Amino acid sequence: MHIPLDQAVKLLLSGEVVAIPTETVYGLAAVFDNPTAIEKIYKLKNRPPENPLIMHLANPEDILPFIEFLPPEFDLLSKNFWPGALTLVLPVIVDKIPEIVRAGLPTQAFRIPSHPLALELLKKTGPLVAPSANLSGRPSSVSETHVETDFGLQFPVLAGGNCTSGVESTILIYSNDKWTIGRLGAIPAVAFEAVLGYLPALTSAKDPLICPGQRFRHYAPQAKLKLSIEFPRQGCIIGFSDREYPVDTQVIKWGASNNPEEVLSHLYETLRLLDQENIKEAYVDVNFPNEGLWQTLIERLNKASIRE
Ligand code: TXA
Ligand code: MG
Repeated sequence: MHIPLDQAVKLLLSGEVVAIPTETVYGLAAVFDNPTAIEKIYKLKNRPPENPLIMHLANPEDILPFIEFLPPEFDLLSKNFWPGALTLVLPVIVDKIPEIVRAGLPTQAFRIPSHPLALELLKKTGPLVAPSANLSGRPSSVSETHVETDFGLQFPVLAGGNCTSGVESTILIYSNDKWTIGRLGAIPAVAFEAVLGYLPALTSAKDPLICPGQRFRHYAPQAKLKLSIEFPRQGCIIGFSDREYPVDTQVIKWGASNNPEEVLSHLYETLRLLDQENIKEAYVDVNFPNEGLWQTLIERLNKASIRE
């Protein structure tokens, strides 16, 4: 159910969960200091309790009550990438943030989204925690309709149109005096090199203390995805708009082979379309370079293709 901004504010402040737009993906939001409201998020998504939530803020200075110190490059990162698709994980003063938000970790993930409606909302509600607005393990939501598919037509959604980048934020984690990438996302790793003076390394997804969410199955449609550079004569293929595929195949084109932004913006819509059309198996054209935003795409596809 689409609701206006003032109703979203009212619901959130009274401890309800509301789906909100951001420029990356839709989020399932609650106020950060109401553990009962936050429990509802975990339940709605069927999210593992050991997977912590990102806190969304309106201004960089809103972080100050939660931390003892700011890492040296914090100002540079926030000036260059906020508002926007960057999430920063920082050590925090643990008793300032409910345990359920942090999943018991001594750190907290923070982000200032750039979607104008999200910013307007955050100015009125204060900090909101929000995971992506999808059932745990399934493709994220990049439109109001996706949220309604997962949570029902009656679920309150602050409608903000289609998400412009369409893939989650990049997560940078500060630890041992340096930044590492906890999750690839809408900002490519190379973009941080100019700001930090070094290319942040990608953390191992196997380390549970680093970015817990990376351990879980993610982004997956019901359909079986076959990542490939060769294609059958028949069947479904997800591919590029500037390439030819065998004539008898059903081809879903998600963008040009020189435009990873365009492809990522159609990623979740395409994965959801497979289920909508009851397609059981699809080949995905993964003939693209292992660099820049293509790395985000292959990471999502690798996770989405894991079978339970
Ligand atoms: O673009 C986004 O980041 C979207 C929008 C709604 O802001 N949010 C999002 O949230 O993707 P979610 O919950 O789907 O993914 C959050 C990721 C998870 O992998 C989680 O483990 C990681 O952030 N995370 C959260 N808190 C963390 C922490 N303290 N340390 C390390 N990783 C953390
Ligand atoms: Mg998610």
